[in-house]
Amino acid sequence: MYAWAVIVAAGRGERLLSATGGVAKQFLEWQGHPLYWASARTFARCAGIHGLVFVFPETALEDESCRVRWLAGDLGLPCRCVAGGARRQDSVRHGLDALPDEADAVLIHDAARPFASVVLAERVLDGLRGGAAGVIPVVPVTDTIKVVRDGVVSMTPDRASLAAVQTPQGFSVSVLREAHARAAAEGWDVTDDAMLLEHCGHTVCTVPGADGNIKITRAEDLHMLERLASPMRPCVGYGYDVHRYVDPDEPRARPLRLGGVSVPGGGMAVQAHSDGDVLLHALMDALLGCLGEGDIGQLFPDSDPALDNVSSCVLLDAVLERARQRQLRIEHVDLTVVAQKPRVSPHREAIRGNVARLLGLAAGRVCVKATTEEHLGFTGQGLGIKAVAVVTASLPQS
Ligand code: CTP
Ligand code: MG
Repeated sequence: MYAWAVIVAAGRGERLLSATGGVAKQFLEWQGHPLYWASARTFARCAGIHGLVFVFPETALEDESCRVRWLAGDLGLPCRCVAGGARRQDSVRHGLDALPDEADAVLIHDAARPFASVVLAERVLDGLRGGAAGVIPVVPVTDTIKVVRDGVVSMTPDRASLAAVQTPQGFSVSVLREAHARAAAEGWDVTDDAMLLEHCGHTVCTVPGADGNIKITRAEDLHMLERLASPMRPCVGYGYDVHRYVDPDEPRARPLRLGGVSVPGGGMAVQAHSDGDVLLHALMDALLGCLGEGDIGQLFPDSDPALDNVSSCVLLDAVLERARQRQLRIEHVDLTVVAQKPRVSPHREAIRGNVARLLGLAAGRVCVKATTEEHLGFTGQGLGIKAVAVVTASLPQS
């Protein structure tokens, strides 16, 4: 098998024009190059791909051909450029016309899918090697899909039999050329190339697609580019907090809570303005440390009557909202409770599960440890409890 890839980049990107300031999406600058170049790089890393055809809008052909000639040296693959047509299927047909005679297999790929991976492309190529005339990557549909006519539902297809289709789609060149010729002769209008094979009675096989392989289509999708475009820098936040033990009937005495979990205090309570969850307080300080935004004392002053006996889970939510705004990506959380009493270890797993839930992390990314200080110092004498938190995370480079 001798395969080339056709990257279709001749659309107008109408649905995004207002968000991009008039630039067709395939030409948005991403990672230092136009978006379509991301797909070129991916195919260049596929052992089974021997060359690339780029399909550009007629008006951009001259400039983009120059650019491709300039960049192609980095790829180590022959590159050809042609003008597209009014519909995607016309652009694909023009791309097929530009393939060299020796190409007997082709991957057709949307330039608007910059996250396609080498693994996915190889999976499609493997399907072709297995003898299929057409191979498409698909992902299961999660929404219920309705057939709607004139604003009225006419039927609901069985979701289990539905699949969302991605590119790259792989084809035998001769079969796809013939299908396109019939489509042109008989006036078929299709949204992907596999449909042409279906119309011609050929079997189209599927391989698993990839959830991340989205097509940049609407303004919301641009966030995906921003997130992936900005390199992240690692950061570490450290938090430390102490609460004094008091009798439960003293003012501001709170029953012991650790990581949002009630822990029997053995007759002791902690003194606090909020609910006194020493572990969540240390965790919040560590998160704020990652953000470089001070500490919880500044954020939630204990003079604020609104925060009297407030749940630390609510305070944590406010800190996490700040973290979200700054796009903090939490990698791991390591927590240590230091107390002579009560014994924390029986509650460790419950605390770990709850903290993981509060942070939206897998439990494996949260560690909860407990220790005593061998009867030394204030925890050793049972006067209070302390907690230490270390958060490792990353932030967008700014
Ligand atoms: N495409 C193409 N020629 C066309 C239409 C589309 O080469 N006449 C390409 C697009 O550049 C894109 C891919 O086909 O890489 C998928 O199409 P789509 O996401 O619909 O892109 P656009 O047609 O450019 O966007 P829109 O429909 O919003 O105008
Ligand atoms: Mg379109």
